[in-house]
Amino acid sequence: MSKKFDALGIDIGGSGIKGAPVDLDKGVFTDDRLRVATPEESTPEAVCDVVEQIAEHFSVKTSVPLGITLPAVVTHGVVRTAANIDKSWIDTDARALFADRLGREVHIVNDADAAGVAELHHGAAKGVDGVVLVTTLGTGIGSALLVDGHLVPNTELGHLEIEGHDAESRAAESVRERDALTMEQWAERLQTYYSHLESLFWPDLIVVGGGVSKQAASFLPLLDLRTEIVPARLKNKAGIIGAARLAARGN
Ligand code: BGC
Repeated sequence: MSKKFDALGIDIGGSGIKGAPVDLDKGVFTDDRLRVATPEESTPEAVCDVVEQIAEHFSVKTSVPLGITLPAVVTHGVVRTAANIDKSWIDTDARALFADRLGREVHIVNDADAAGVAELHHGAAKGVDGVVLVTTLGTGIGSALLVDGHLVPNTELGHLEIEGHDAESRAAESVRERDALTMEQWAERLQTYYSHLESLFWPDLIVVGGGVSKQAASFLPLLDLRTEIVPARLKNKAGIIGAARLAARGN
């Protein structure tokens, strides 16, 4: 294979674990993405089996940086929370676990933080100074806070308590689907959520990611905010690209 790539990214989600090699200058995949269903019991060991399978599929040298996302707070490679993954992840040293199994160094990052970094370099937040909030609407709500092009990691703004509720339990995309909310009904909940966010952070820009950002035209115009709010550009590639970028370049 003569295609140039700089790093491999693997994005661990609730339903799928996806990986691809990435050209970091262009912010694109250099080969087809591989997706494997997330094991029903998504324990660290079971997920590690899939990550190993994906890494082997691309047969990249161990010197090529490998970044892996998790839908959880991660500090220094250690998983601290597990809102939407198996609780046995809490306190798992994911960096050591994956490194041992794969025989190489790995970089572990929160999924929304990875998406935020990808949008910063290649997507909707590119060239925007000041405070940018990237949110991902999916099973939960993820957040990445970018300040003058730097990531403030693990902000977990999906778990703000708003009107007595954990915000993601009212406004995540999975809740819209579960409760068969119309876009108008869901937009009311998003209005509450994003109004709260803007009153806390006074961001210069809000970026909305997650699979549903493909349908942004059907809900973003319903929101009335003082902050500019735009759909993410990299769609479901953002996690992989951001993880690869962080593993290779650290920001
Ligand atoms: C988790 C975050 C994650 C987000 C999106 C939330 O429930 O706490 O760590 O980024 O879901 O997956």
